[in-house]
Amino acid sequence: MNVETTLVPEPYVWTEPPLGDAKSAPTRFYTDPAVFKAEVEHIHLKNWFFAGRVEEVRNPGDYKALDSVGGPVLLVRGEDGVLRAFANVCRHRASILLEGCGHASNIICPYHAWNYRLDGTLAGAPGMREVPKFEKPPHGLIPIRLEVWEGSIFLNYDDHAPDLMTHLGNMPELIGSHRLGEMVKTWHIEIETKCNWKLLLENAMETYHTGIVHAATVGAQRSVSFPTQGEWHVIQVQSNRSIAVLGQEPPFPVIEGLSEQSRKGTYFTVIEPTIQFACAQDCMWWLAVRPIAVDRSVLSVGGCFPKAYTELPDFEERAAPYYKRWEAVALEDVGILEKQQIGLSSILARPGPLSWRDDMVLAMNRWVMAQLPAHIVDGMA
Ligand code: FES
Ligand SMILES: [Fe+2]
Repeated sequence: MNVETTLVPEPYVWTEPPLGDAKSAPTRFYTDPAVFKAEVEHIHLKNWFFAGRVEEVRNPGDYKALDSVGGPVLLVRGEDGVLRAFANVCRHRASILLEGCGHASNIICPYHAWNYRLDGTLAGAPGMREVPKFEKPPHGLIPIRLEVWEGSIFLNYDDHAPDLMTHLGNMPELIGSHRLGEMVKTWHIEIETKCNWKLLLENAMETYHTGIVHAATVGAQRSVSFPTQGEWHVIQVQSNRSIAVLGQEPPFPVIEGLSEQSRKGTYFTVIEPTIQFACAQDCMWWLAVRPIAVDRSVLSVGGCFPKAYTELPDFEERAAPYYKRWEAVALEDVGILEKQQIGLSSILARPGPLSWRDDMVLAMNRWVMAQLPAHIVDGMA
């Protein structure tokens, strides 16, 4: 039986100030290194960020190294089957330990060969027996908080942050029938961008630009918004068939058991601060943004399909147009956002009036500003 959502869409969601008075954020929101530094401290190091999918580290000994705003991170599946995250940093003199993805029976530092078990405990430290007072137990890898929701891995540097389900609020209710936990990641790219991290997320939550920037690909779109509870936002681009492929009948069927609301289009969500899950009628793709500097970010784009689709003999052939579309549209967005970043750096740039189609841009600006100290927000005006 389908689980139907109680969330009701609206043409747009608007909060104070009233439509007509609302303006885009001050340019320093996107260009000032002091604002970026405050965002790292008050937002990125205190909130959940996306680290990949459980199927990437399925078996004991599987690992995945990734970069984050807090430094290099290691995901490791232990002998006990437990998935853990650690700082990918040696406890001797801080070399990184592993790179890329792979399989290991223990973790050996490439510098002086300290070695760690898959649960992070220190197993061996050559020559350290001769060092007075040295003991292994306090020198295990430093753990990072990890939670999994529907197959996606989330990390948080803040041990006191609310748990993931509190953060997600009523998001699981709206997209529950997509059953993301039964999907498999089949594709992933990373794009280096010369723009502020917030521009990438804001762009992904408005359809005002799509008829122009994506004229040659997805074209003009219409969307509705949903008021949400929790630290997330959502619009639904209305279309009676999947928009994850361009100009053709979708090669995959509609996900079995999809709710009536979910059949009406593609949800574009933003889980604050840096994650987007886009859920179409036949697949899911993510955008996850890694802030590097005030004007530099890395955009990760990845695609997932229901497991049964991935087992079809012609899966790769059917999936290829999705990958092509995801990459082409992401590059179109990055192209315009890099132009926007250059414009924002002009001393003559000024906040402009927002359209009703910028409702989520305003909501996201307000969310970010609410996390920052008052002197940073006041100093931007
Ligand atoms: S830095 Fe890792 S063993 Fe020395
Ligand atoms: Fe776009």
